[in-house]
Amino acid sequence: MAESGIRAEVIPRHIAVIMDGNGRWAEQRGLARTQGHQAGVESVRATVRAARELGVAWLTLFAFSSENWNRPKAEVDTLMQLPEAYFETELADAIENGVRIRTIGRRDSLPASVVRTLDEAVRRTRDNTGMNLVFALSYGGRGEIVDAARRLLRDHELGKVDAEALDEKSFAAYLDDPELPDVDLLIRTGSELRVSNFLLWQIAYAEIHVTDVLWPDFGRRQLEDAIRDFQSRERRYGLTSAQVRAGAGERS
Ligand code: FPP
Repeated sequence: MAESGIRAEVIPRHIAVIMDGNGRWAEQRGLARTQGHQAGVESVRATVRAARELGVAWLTLFAFSSENWNRPKAEVDTLMQLPEAYFETELADAIENGVRIRTIGRRDSLPASVVRTLDEAVRRTRDNTGMNLVFALSYGGRGEIVDAARRLLRDHELGKVDAEALDEKSFAAYLDDPELPDVDLLIRTGSELRVSNFLLWQIAYAEIHVTDVLWPDFGRRQLEDAIRDFQSRERRYGLTSAQVRAGAGERS
């Protein structure tokens, strides 16, 4: 066991984060909400670094939801500038540390400059074999499932899919990123007890950790708290405790 009290052999493989509370953080300081989002980029930097150093294989961050388009234009404009601000400094770090950048969400609704920035980050890190860092942008879980169904129906029309043979695994191949594994630990900052249309398919068996900490105050220490909380849970996947203790619940 490391000094942090974290067991290295039970690090969640996939951590997903609903980064909430930027607006409240700013309001508490008499700042504009947009300054809260800008402060939130620093937390992204710190959290990505800590997750990588702790050996997390997949980290997915909810950076902009499909519903966020309805916020005031000035706020949307600021949020759309954040990927560029982030990658300006962090792309080199990702390349150096083997981090592979991926994205999920409706790319066609993003401004062309954001798509260019994301494409460059994805392209320049695609051969990396370290942590997968996934940005969910213009993303909604229901929309992702509908898009998957649309792609599936197209393949069905082409005769490539047999309706009777469809199962959860073959359906998941139509999601935005078919390689994205199930979420082990879902973290939500800012204390709200909701999943807000995030990764609805992938969180089926996620352990959920909600913290009062607002996203701009989140970093390595809070990530370690969440992982310790995760490590205290018994994951049952619908089985009984006795079955789990006997090893029946182990998943490959
Ligand atoms: C919700 O907080 C947060 C967002 C809508 C945006 C989250 C984005 C970041 C943290 C930065 C993303 C960084 C990159 C690199 C893309 P809120 O505004 O709803 O907060 P509130 O509930 O306190 O109002």
